[in-house]
Amino acid sequence: MASKLQQENRAEFKRYKEDVRKEGKPFFPYAIWHDTVMSLVVVAVIIGLAVLWKATSDGTDAGALGPLYADKADPATTNFVPRPDWFFYFLFYLLRIFKWPETVVLGTVGIPTILLILLIGLPFFDRRPERAILRRPVAFVAAILVIISMGTLTWKGATAKENLGAETLALVPEWAKKQGFEGNADAVAGAKLFAESGCMNCHTYLGAGSSNLGAPDLSAEGSKGRGIQWQIDHLTNPSSKTPGSPMPSFAALGADNLKLLATFLEASKGEKK
Ligand code: HEC
Repeated sequence: MASKLQQENRAEFKRYKEDVRKEGKPFFPYAIWHDTVMSLVVVAVIIGLAVLWKATSDGTDAGALGPLYADKADPATTNFVPRPDWFFYFLFYLLRIFKWPETVVLGTVGIPTILLILLIGLPFFDRRPERAILRRPVAFVAAILVIISMGTLTWKGATAKENLGAETLALVPEWAKKQGFEGNADAVAGAKLFAESGCMNCHTYLGAGSSNLGAPDLSAEGSKGRGIQWQIDHLTNPSSKTPGSPMPSFAALGADNLKLLATFLEASKGEKK
């Protein structure tokens, strides 16, 4: 004895087959013809845009569709901030949420794979013929949640500040002012190194940067009374001061730069009230 749902499904399928027989059109030539015409239209539009771009622009002057050639790429640049295309911002931000190395795999592979499997499996676990969205509360809520979370992640990804290079470098004058080391050229130079050397991938400073691997906020590092030499030794070999420290050695920056960094750290006593 077939269940009510099965009977409904079978009746639906029979009606569908009849419709196809009465009103359907064979794949060849109808669908093939459709696809061929549409593909030709798309290719023609692309060729048209290319011709327009080439014809209206000369050299580096912008034409209707941008300049012919921009500056050559510089493979040696260190202050370029790589960014994904906007439609990947949500994945890009998801990755930033998982900070500890052991959990990164969740953001890169885990969550996207689980969601994809759910999507692929949808036709198998949602078998009801109901199509009106308001009579499908679970699907409705799930769709709203997906839209909200992808929207939020895209927004966060679009506005996220990078922790390396130009964007943090621009914060240095503000830091100097808040910490009151504007007059100390060495501390300002150290602050620039700090902004450029990747420190802020692990450390936060006056609200900027991201906190990783349990690295402390360094806004008030100078009030711990460690001293310049301690800072240099710690930067050279972090585990000599904090056994088992996951912070990498920065000895490669050279003695002069480490001194500047240490001066900056010791000048950071926390925001003046
Ligand atoms: C990969 C992550 C990581 C990076 C990159 C990193 N740190 Fe650290 N840092 C840590 C961790 C974890 C600690 C806590 C353990 C320790 O004290 O060594 C720490 C501690 C510190 C401390 C506190 C020491 C104390 O106890 O007073 C200072 C200062 C410091 N880091 C400066 C820097 C500077 C400057 C840079 C960049 C040149 C930098 N860190 C880059 C992870 C990092």
